[in-house]
Amino acid sequence: MCGIIGYIGRSEATGILIKGLKDLEYRGYDSGGIAVLNKNKLNVIKAKGEIRFLEEKLNGKTLYGSLGIGHTRWATHGKANEVNAHPHCSRHFAVVHNGIIENYKEIKESLSMNGIAFESETDTEVVPKLLELNYNGDVLEAIRKTVKLLEGSYALGIVCTDDENTLYCTKKGSPLIIGIGSEENFIASDINPLLHYTKNAVYLEDYETAKITSDEVTVYDRNFAETEKEIKTIQLNKSAADKGDFPHFMLKEIYEEPKVVKNTLNAVTTEGEVIFGNMPFTAEDFKALSRIYIVGCGSAYHVGLIAKYNFEKVAKIPAFAEYAGEFRYAEPVIDENCLVIIISQSGETADSLAALKQAREMGAKTISIVNVPESSIAKMSHYNILTLAGAEIAVATTKAFSCQLAALNMLCLYIARRREACTEVFSEIAVNMSHLLPKKIEKVLGKEDELKALSKTIKDMDKCFFLGRNVDFGVSLEGALKLKEISYIDCVGYPASELKHGTISLIEKDTVCFGLISNKELLPKTVSNLIEVIARGAKVIVFAPESLKADLPQFETVITYPDSIPFLTPSIEVIPLQLLAYHVANERGLPIDKPRNLAKSVTVE
Ligand code: M6R
Repeated sequence: MCGIIGYIGRSEATGILIKGLKDLEYRGYDSGGIAVLNKNKLNVIKAKGEIRFLEEKLNGKTLYGSLGIGHTRWATHGKANEVNAHPHCSRHFAVVHNGIIENYKEIKESLSMNGIAFESETDTEVVPKLLELNYNGDVLEAIRKTVKLLEGSYALGIVCTDDENTLYCTKKGSPLIIGIGSEENFIASDINPLLHYTKNAVYLEDYETAKITSDEVTVYDRNFAETEKEIKTIQLNKSAADKGDFPHFMLKEIYEEPKVVKNTLNAVTTEGEVIFGNMPFTAEDFKALSRIYIVGCGSAYHVGLIAKYNFEKVAKIPAFAEYAGEFRYAEPVIDENCLVIIISQSGETADSLAALKQAREMGAKTISIVNVPESSIAKMSHYNILTLAGAEIAVATTKAFSCQLAALNMLCLYIARRREACTEVFSEIAVNMSHLLPKKIEKVLGKEDELKALSKTIKDMDKCFFLGRNVDFGVSLEGALKLKEISYIDCVGYPASELKHGTISLIEKDTVCFGLISNKELLPKTVSNLIEVIARGAKVIVFAPESLKADLPQFETVITYPDSIPFLTPSIEVIPLQLLAYHVANERGLPIDKPRNLAKSVTVE
């Protein structure tokens, strides 16, 4: 949540900061701002809304100076307006912040009692004020004294008017990366803005602080002693952050799914076998497991819910999908015979990270499935499986979801084999069939026009339901989330059987119900639930594999997709729902890649 950027070098900072903020905008777009230091004077400009409004305000002007910081905000404390926009300043300091200062009220009260005035409603503003109080000409010392007082999470970019040549940063709980250039250096919340300038990066750890000039980066540990850091090579391609010929990142990312699912599967399979190199857990460990928790937020939770059914059926182990924010406060009974699998695209989601921390502290074995290699979740878990989705920019996840599901299915097979819960033949067939997924996904992409036409007929609905049983219920939740987050239509995913226990009272003439039927055994059951809603005036649109079409003559609209084995069908079933959500939102003329109130990476609780 919130993106921060910083530059020190020989070029004008303004353009670099604005460009970087655009790359970080998926982290929040409530307001933007930059501060540039020139001749020991801070020039600050801020604007409400997306970075294009900040750019408009600049109106082609440059705030001269080669040292600066910038921020794009997802509002937590205080309204989304210009006063609350970062950078926040004091006499000598300008600060940008990603995270939450949990004890800001206490600090603010103490500072106010000492006559210090605040302009904004933000938690962040206490930071420049504390820096000022703690400053006696030594910026590092002011930072040391200030961070000692802060509770919560922070990635901070700091400039001081007395120090024209140095950019400072420090972090705890929020990501911060230093990009190492030639005669210029950068800081950013993620690697995307750095890719324009360098492939060399230093990943700051919690409680580390860095002093950065254009030629040198010095990192200090939690005791403010100098520490050596490895310079890592960024593996990501710059083009990942470009829309190419697509009108939106979301559509581009849907079209990347065949390729990225293939890459993710290839990385963990050979000759029909699942291989996880350097897995720290043995077959005996997996046999001794009493249960598995699959934990995530939003779509990542849906991946866990879909996989839960497979873990129980195939690996024959009790499995529970849990919302990370609920799991951590539910006092789950966890011991060394529990496996906790954390799913996260960003690897930085605050609730998921906290759930992982708790699971580790309680002795569980932990495995993460993450898309960002150096992220906090990847580093904190005992073992990380990297999804190879590449940078996902659209707030609504699509390709990362598909890669997570593919990786989790492979983990399920891996564990099932070690527990001797499924045969080698089953596993080999499932692996081989999974390699057919990319082609099948491509075939669904070929149905885009059909889904676009459907979207025109339903774009004006004000509510709808996604109904399914078993894995189709998990996919229903995802279909509903995808559509609601970008179209703002009130969508609900429900187990098909549950509607008649209350919610059916919401069905009226022409209420749209999407019926998800991926499986022959459950077909008659879901069909009768759909007939119940048709009897009450609903308009039903069914999604089913090609082979089941003949069994669904009673429905006017059946969108089909290629068949697979039940273990893998959700990976194909979700694609038409993603395309439909995209086209409905497009028909409604909405900002698809940046839906209102949202941010891609939710690094606050
Ligand atoms: O980065 P994460 O996978 O941990 O993010 C989890 C959710 O915030 C995310 O899946 C969210 O629900 C997406 N906007 C859904 O499209």
